[in-house]
Amino acid sequence: MKAAVLHEIGGVPRFEDFPDPVPAADEVIVEVRAVAVENVDKAFAAGTHYAGGGYLARFPLIPVFDGIGTLPDGTLVGFGRPRAPYGALAERTVVARGAYVPVPDGIEPEVAAVLGSAVTGMSMATAAGLVPGETVLVQGATGVAGRLAVQVARLLGAGRIVATGRDEGQLREVLDLGADTVINTAVQDDALARAYTEARGDGYDIVVDFLWGRPTEILLRSLTPESFAFPKPTRVVQVGESAGARLTLSADSLRTSGVEIYGAARNLDPGTMGEVYGRIVAWTRSGELTFGVEKVPLSAVESAWRRTDLRGRRLVVVP
Ligand SMILES: NC(=O)c1ccc[n+]([C@@H]2O[C@H](COP(=O)([O-])OP(=O)(O)OC[C@H]3O[C@@H](n4cnc5c(N)ncnc54)[C@H](OP(=O)(O)O)[C@@H]3O)[C@@H](O)[C@H]2O)c1
Repeated sequence: MKAAVLHEIGGVPRFEDFPDPVPAADEVIVEVRAVAVENVDKAFAAGTHYAGGGYLARFPLIPVFDGIGTLPDGTLVGFGRPRAPYGALAERTVVARGAYVPVPDGIEPEVAAVLGSAVTGMSMATAAGLVPGETVLVQGATGVAGRLAVQVARLLGAGRIVATGRDEGQLREVLDLGADTVINTAVQDDALARAYTEARGDGYDIVVDFLWGRPTEILLRSLTPESFAFPKPTRVVQVGESAGARLTLSADSLRTSGVEIYGAARNLDPGTMGEVYGRIVAWTRSGELTFGVEKVPLSAVESAWRRTDLRGRRLVVVP
């Protein structure tokens, strides 16, 4: 079969022949239909992901841990955790029997591959308990997950949506998706702090943070009052780290600001996940939630892997 094959840590997967997987008794072959390539997949391949040690133990391997495909009986499923060295980026892969869920009717494979990125935006409800009318700040709103979070905030009834990015053209697109105010983070620190302060109105109730690093450090500092005040709570949901894995958090940033920081996985369990997924699917079917997808054939994986021009569209490889 054809596959995207990674030969070394930090390499780029190449379109090559690879032996077909042979299933064990408790395994099943999946014919792959669509695979989203995310930052996390690139981090694994680059050897920079904290959980990547075991994964990179044996080369050559096929990257990416999940995708959309068909079972031998023709059912379209989302599958996960192929048996190494097999991964999702191939014509076929092998997974444990049961390591898949049916794709709901009416959802195309390339969109099904991206639904998970919308689930992260729902953390403003599951982790932070969004109440309709509240003000939401989306940090990193020009990315794939950020654009979906802006739309989710609108669909969940946010009162005001503030969105950040680094590019004026893309920020205009985010306004079209439903943001009320945008902030360009590609400015000097003082100017960025002022922008956060000016845009906050009577306060950010929820921050959905895909950035961490410098912009979020400046944001947290800007939320700290300069004199004693009764703080208004701001629930920060940490989802991603596109701008950096670390920031410096001064003690007073927490002591007097009213900032509460949660992980995106807070309150998630199979029940809430099912509920969240159901809402995402319903909005997708009705066209209220739109996904930016850049479809490329498996044969183009090597050049696609290096692309930096996606502007909020998810790379989806179609074997
Ligand atoms: N926890 C989860 O389940 C989950 C799921 C999906 C994603 N994530 C994480 O969420 C983050 C965003 O994912 P994504 O798929 O939306 O990525 P993406 O499409 O690459 O978007 C990244 C966003 O971050 C911005 N950005 C990148 N580097 C920056 C920097 N140095 N300073 C300021 N802004 C910067 C980008 O701005 P430009 O548009 O200007 O490039 C864009 O808005 C990643 O860390 C990802 O791993 C987590």
